[in-house]
Amino acid sequence: MIKDILLKGKIVALTGAGMSEESGISTFRGKGGIWERYNPAIYANIPGLSFTFIIRPHKVIDFIVDFYEPILNAEPNPGHLALAKLEENGALNSIITQNVDDLHTKAGNKVVIELHGNMFRFRCMRCSNKRKLDKKELTELLSKLEKNRNSRLAITKFFVPCKCGRRMRPDVVLFGESLPEAELKLAYKEIENCNTLLLVGTSGVVYPAAYLPAYAKERGKPIVEINPERTKFSEFADYFIAGKAGEVLPQILQEYSL
Ligand code: OAD
Repeated sequence: MIKDILLKGKIVALTGAGMSEESGISTFRGKGGIWERYNPAIYANIPGLSFTFIIRPHKVIDFIVDFYEPILNAEPNPGHLALAKLEENGALNSIITQNVDDLHTKAGNKVVIELHGNMFRFRCMRCSNKRKLDKKELTELLSKLEKNRNSRLAITKFFVPCKCGRRMRPDVVLFGESLPEAELKLAYKEIENCNTLLLVGTSGVVYPAAYLPAYAKERGKPIVEINPERTKFSEFADYFIAGKAGEVLPQILQEYSL
């Protein structure tokens, strides 16, 4: 029974873009998703972005603005809030997320392992110093970009200056880049120490995050998957709950008194 395994506590949640879909942030591969609008072979990696910067800077600006705007305006949905409550109640150990939208932290979760970074945090391209920008600062940066839609200089200025003199970029992982080592190590450790892995809103096509469910399975950890669609994980998940994160997670919280 799902209830019995969840009542054992020590749950770890691995979340993906579907988690934030009900907060108004489109997924990557769903209908109208980001990678449907912007070819990831071009926009999800540095060589593609650099080339586009030179030949069609307005397309880079469109991409930055389209990616950032929904994230800046999003609020945690009932699914995020249910996970925060589960942590507060002691049933959930941590969240491992592929999302870069900061919504788990905004919802109140304390242990959030961000495998793909965070759009609100910038990282110096020389000294690796990191700094979190708030919504107001980012909104101002985006509005300057929008006013100068064809300007390479505007894009350069979006990369805010670091105290070392070099510029900072959003601290997110693009294709071809390594995941932050400490976070990845911690993610594996959290899986080793959990009783149950809750998989929420991820298609599981991006590695190394997609190795984590197999790692849990190999260690005999039950897997409960929540997704409106079946995924490559559904075959080996112990339980598949068809539904949206924002509906299923609050139900679980309430019905099982977790
Ligand atoms: P995808 O867009 O690949 O998958 C989203 C998943 O969410 C799908 O399985 C949907 O069925 C499901 N979904 C949609 N709405 C949902 C809802 N309301 N509740 C629950 N599930 C829902 O997104 P990810 O798996 O997160 O990486 O993609 C992984 C990585 O690919 C991203 O982190 C990003 C991307 O390229 C980088 O940019 C490095």
